[in-house]
Amino acid sequence: MLSIQDRTQRNIRKLYIESYGCQMNFSDSEIVISLLKEDGFEPTNKFEEADLLFINTCSIREKAEKNVKNRLKIFNLLKKKKPKMIIGMLGCMAERLKLKLLEEEKLVDLIVGPDSYRDIPHLVKLVESKNAINVTFSNSKEETYADIKPVRENGVTAFISITRGCDNMCSFCIVPFTRGRERSRDPKSIIEECEELWKKSYKEITLLGQNVDSYIWYGGGVKKDFHKASNLKKYTSINFAKLLEFIAKAVPAMRIRFSTSNPCDMSVEVLETISRNTNICQHIHLPVQSGSTRVLQRMNRRSTRVEYLSLIRMIRTILPDCSISHDIITGFCGERDQDHNDTLSLMEYVKYDFGYMFAYSSRPGTFAEKNLKDDVPEKIKKRRLSEIIDLQRKHSSERIQRHVGKVQEVLIEGESKKSKFHWYGRNSQSAVVVFPKDNYHLGDLVKVKINDCTAATLIGEVLKH
Ligand code: 5AD
Ligand code: SF4
Repeated sequence: MLSIQDRTQRNIRKLYIESYGCQMNFSDSEIVISLLKEDGFEPTNKFEEADLLFINTCSIREKAEKNVKNRLKIFNLLKKKKPKMIIGMLGCMAERLKLKLLEEEKLVDLIVGPDSYRDIPHLVKLVESKNAINVTFSNSKEETYADIKPVRENGVTAFISITRGCDNMCSFCIVPFTRGRERSRDPKSIIEECEELWKKSYKEITLLGQNVDSYIWYGGGVKKDFHKASNLKKYTSINFAKLLEFIAKAVPAMRIRFSTSNPCDMSVEVLETISRNTNICQHIHLPVQSGSTRVLQRMNRRSTRVEYLSLIRMIRTILPDCSISHDIITGFCGERDQDHNDTLSLMEYVKYDFGYMFAYSSRPGTFAEKNLKDDVPEKIKKRRLSEIIDLQRKHSSERIQRHVGKVQEVLIEGESKKSKFHWYGRNSQSAVVVFPKDNYHLGDLVKVKINDCTAATLIGEVLKH
């Protein structure tokens, strides 16, 4: 550990990044750390120590933006004591608000949108030298940061971005505006990253994208030696199912997860790939948003209720043990009681393992904000939200019981929040399992006998060999 004096002499400066929102933002922060480490910055977990302080932001709902603004006010109190400290904003809010942020509130020195992170080291220098405010954003059609090795801390599980952006244009969603057009990353760089992680003893990867199932790589075909572990001929294109298969073969003992799946792109080929490869986890996050076709059409979703349900049946047939989770929005423009009841009945039919539920929040610039009326009163949005949350709770506590009595493979991810004598990990279906530590270690893949469960947690013990 270097003393402050040593650090100053060697010109090592401290970088603090606070990330909000989706997993992609957390993964992007690891890319930003990598870019800045090369420039002499060292990450810190304490914002008080920072010479350079970034907040990686989310714009998905209004509340997310309010949280960021409150946080920035706190950081600015620190800046009064440390005027040389640079405060920067990254992520979706940076892209959405651009100059407005600087002009109106003057809370940041630097604003960088999600496709411009390569410019950060240069921009930091500009801010330092000219004491000027700098802004950079522009959605790229190509940027995937494929060549950058993210700086990860966890050592057991890692996120790997495989696509960026989204072309779907759901009418409520700001993501296509803040993260730009969809692009897929070179499969070779993805597989190499997986192999490197395995060598570094990582045990689980999660492939990330706004819409992983629409992954497609043309890239002029893939050479025969594309991956040693697979005896592949030349492919003219690689879709998500093929990518999954390649990864599963390249790192056969690595656990593989992926998120998020859009129902309109999920294919039988992907489901069969999961069923063939035991290292691909049995969990699909499949946002439905609403159970009413009328609302889905207003949301510009590409699948109807009937289509979504037939996909669910397909999943249940091909992967009977797979867990399914959802995202649902309540109180979207024009949602009637009947539509809400359709959502409840769809949930009853599917019986999701878990889910994420939100009240609709109108986002500036989206199709819905410009063309549809946000006409469901806040009180009704909230009531409907609490009804779906209650129903999900009921289903979650029913679904979790199917694991009791089984022996399941669990990856140890950390200490249980409630007891220092217990580990927690997840089974293949992504349910949390808690069990006594014994002599096992972080990162061990253990066979756990599931003895009991609470509403959301499985309780077990490791089976000794
Ligand atoms: N209001 C509420 N929820 C939203 N989501 C996306 N946009 C909005 C919005 N404007 C939800 C969707 C999406 C998840 C990531 O966030 O359910 O799947
Ligand atoms: Fe947003 Fe729809 Fe794209 Fe998901 S698929 S990021 S909800 S536009």
